[in-house]
Amino acid sequence: MRGIFVLEEQTISKIAAGEVVDRPASVVKELIENSIDAGCRRVAVEIGKGGRDYIRVTDDGCGISEEDVETAFEKHATSKITRIEDLAALQTLGFRGEALPSIAAVSRIELSTRHESEGFGTYMRVEGGVELKERRRITRAVGTTIEVKSLFYNLPARIGTIKSESTELRHIMDVCINYVVIYPEIKFELFHDEKEKPIMSTLGNGEMLDAIVNAYGSSIARELIELNEPDSPVASSHIVGIQVGGYISKPALVYGTKRHLHTYVNRRFVRSELMNKAIRRGYGTLLAKYTHPFVVVALYIEPGEINVNIHPKKHEISFYHPTEVFHAIVESVSATLRHADLIPEVGDVEKEKTREATAGAERAKLFGGPDVGRWEAIEALQTSFQTEGTPEISESRAEGDSGSLDIRPAP
Ligand SMILES: Nc1ncnc2c1ncn2[C@@H]1O[C@H](COP(=O)(O)OP(=O)(O)OP(=O)(O)O)[C@@H](O)[C@H]1O
Ligand SMILES: [Mg+2]
Repeated sequence: MRGIFVLEEQTISKIAAGEVVDRPASVVKELIENSIDAGCRRVAVEIGKGGRDYIRVTDDGCGISEEDVETAFEKHATSKITRIEDLAALQTLGFRGEALPSIAAVSRIELSTRHESEGFGTYMRVEGGVELKERRRITRAVGTTIEVKSLFYNLPARIGTIKSESTELRHIMDVCINYVVIYPEIKFELFHDEKEKPIMSTLGNGEMLDAIVNAYGSSIARELIELNEPDSPVASSHIVGIQVGGYISKPALVYGTKRHLHTYVNRRFVRSELMNKAIRRGYGTLLAKYTHPFVVVALYIEPGEINVNIHPKKHEISFYHPTEVFHAIVESVSATLRHADLIPEVGDVEKEKTREATAGAERAKLFGGPDVGRWEAIEALQTSFQTEGTPEISESRAEGDSGSLDIRPAP
């Protein structure tokens, strides 16, 4: 065996980056989270060749000041916490200060940003984690555009793990949908391959059900019921003000996978066995074995009641009082189903059958039934926006705000 050596800084960065970035969709996740944390009202995600070519995320958030652009790419540099104790009151999705340096270590990045307090913007280029001396002032609107190109260009083994364009795009769409439904007040748009029309677009009107319709189509939304508060408040000696909201499907709409269990804690998408089990318990005997409902379950809880710092991707959390959380969800789901009108009206059965058949076909298209290609699924999604239409909303425009998000990179 060879002796023990400390790895070179470049190697350490690349290994560490692998914890955060394993495919194009994880880049999209981190960039969207940063846009949300920056208080954006709109965010546009542009993808070239399933993320292999480029991933460009533009927001109208607070922007980054000229002084801070370099620091943003430094390891463990964050504006979101200053001490570990701050995690107990965390209001943001980010806190590690790892996303940008990790992405930068394995790609070529162009950043264009303007902070709300500055009259000019800043452009910067970073390659393989190293800043290129190409920082200059630019003219642009307040907000940020980060373009990530040549992902894993310096990690040939990783490039090989990137799947086909359609598979990567599917993962990216899943990531986007996770945020779209829980941040309905933000207008999201997802573009692919420089096409004019977005493949996904939301109203940003604050209504979760509208966001679900934008993401999945109206046939699914018709099968959903809004989560009620439990009949009697959950008796909890520990947790004050725990709340459960969102939508769950009627027992008729189920899937063979857990893919449509969207579970959130304080608007952070999490994979939680505890929440999944509680949802299932809430359905009781209404769910057949091996079937899973479509749910968007949003749990709101004191930040001090959870630990978000247990997974490098922040996908998992732990609860300090899991039993109370479990019961709150079970109660909310079961009360909602108890009060819901789940029996179709007599005489409507034929109509229902036809609608079900159509909805079933649509679902198969959307979620890739056995004989439907991924691209067709995306096409179907696109068509569903065109046909169902997303009514134009007149937005109140602040002075000096053009109202539209300029998603082209600054010259
Ligand atoms: N779109 C953006 N708008 C405004 N500021 C941003 C944006 N993206 C990044 N920043 C700034 O850059 C800093 C570093 O971002 P980065 O994503 O690396 O870390 P983080 O979000 O603080 O933590 P995490 O690693 O958990 O995501 C952020 O703390 C924030 O101040
Ligand atoms: Mg971040």
